[in-house]
Amino acid sequence: MKKRILFVDDEPEILDGLERMLRRFNKEWEMVFATSGEEALERFAEVPFDVIVTDMRMPGMDGAELLSEITRRYPGTIRMVLSGYSDLDTVMRVVSTAHRYLSKPCDAETLKEVIEQAAVLRETINDERVRKVVSRLDTVPSVSSVYTQIIEALQAPEVSLREIGEIISKDVGMTAKVLQLVNSAFFGLRREITSVPQAVGLLGLETIRSLVLMVGVFRTFEHVRIPGFDLEALRMHMLTVGACAADLAAYSGASKAMVDASYLSGLLHDVGKLVLAAAMPEELAEILKRFNETKQPLYDVEHEVLHTSHAEIGAYLMGMWGLPDDVVSAIAFHHEPGKSRIVQASPLLFTHVANVLSHLQEGEKAGEGLLDMAYIAKLGMEQNVTEWEQRCEAVMAEGVHV
Ligand SMILES: [Fe+2]
Ligand SMILES: [Fe+2]
Repeated sequence: MKKRILFVDDEPEILDGLERMLRRFNKEWEMVFATSGEEALERFAEVPFDVIVTDMRMPGMDGAELLSEITRRYPGTIRMVLSGYSDLDTVMRVVSTAHRYLSKPCDAETLKEVIEQAAVLRETINDERVRKVVSRLDTVPSVSSVYTQIIEALQAPEVSLREIGEIISKDVGMTAKVLQLVNSAFFGLRREITSVPQAVGLLGLETIRSLVLMVGVFRTFEHVRIPGFDLEALRMHMLTVGACAADLAAYSGASKAMVDASYLSGLLHDVGKLVLAAAMPEELAEILKRFNETKQPLYDVEHEVLHTSHAEIGAYLMGMWGLPDDVVSAIAFHHEPGKSRIVQASPLLFTHVANVLSHLQEGEKAGEGLLDMAYIAKLGMEQNVTEWEQRCEAVMAEGVHV
């Protein structure tokens, strides 16, 4: 079936340009163009769309308001921003409602690729079998309120690091955990950090925000007890993968945004294991037993038993929590990046590599598969593997230095 896509921009010339540029995709896409947020909602009311691509600054209802309306009324729609502004304040306003943020000008091929990538991701994570696992949870876990408050605070035009630190400090349990992590060998800090504002000042807002999200996830699932399933080891593993993924991204010269997204993806990549443990403890015990007997990759065993794996399950939950697509894709495809359609260096690449290498170095052979060399070759990066191995080894031995 043709995908239905709505483009919204207050400048008719821009819409004309898009229409001309994208005409060649007419066979696969049914495209509709609207010149305001209000008109977009009217068109949605007639028949909802699979994808919306909107401008940010528009008179009347702007892009951020439109997307939060669409999120509320049509949660299944893929939401993208195509904007001439990419300053932090503008991006932050849609951080929890847009799946992707693209900057103008954007050529037809890029736009097409990004929309197709988002569609492949949705097909993968909105699978009925994934939903079946998540629906077995007593309550669907929600994102920690501290994290939501941080995101909300960041949407204000001016917010100080101090204020963000104070939001976290109000949650005593969260504060203790964040400080414990920050003071662990991972960060290789030379002195003891005793307050959250100090940690924010030293490690940066993005790092602390990611840690808050991760701590919240573990808090949600801390009651999980399954023989052979070690929560503490999983936490250490996710921290390691986050640190390695961020290091590999930074080393490759990636933008700060990509380094941050790689860090977050690494910290959360195996979150589906927690969901599985809470939702289907018996099945997971059976999976772990079979995995120990056969030494097949864990996600293969999960596919045999559940017809899905912790990768898709974790990605589904993180998608529901409003994390951006590059992070959700990295989680969904972290064992098999080739299935993603993403063919450039991305948080997915760095998470995949960091995950496989750290599992191997932890001595957990084949637990999460091997490097996808066909994928790495497609990106022309085979020659980087030795270097990646050395870097991950160093991060694991010495922690991350900031
Ligand atoms: Fe995994
Ligand atoms: Fe992993």
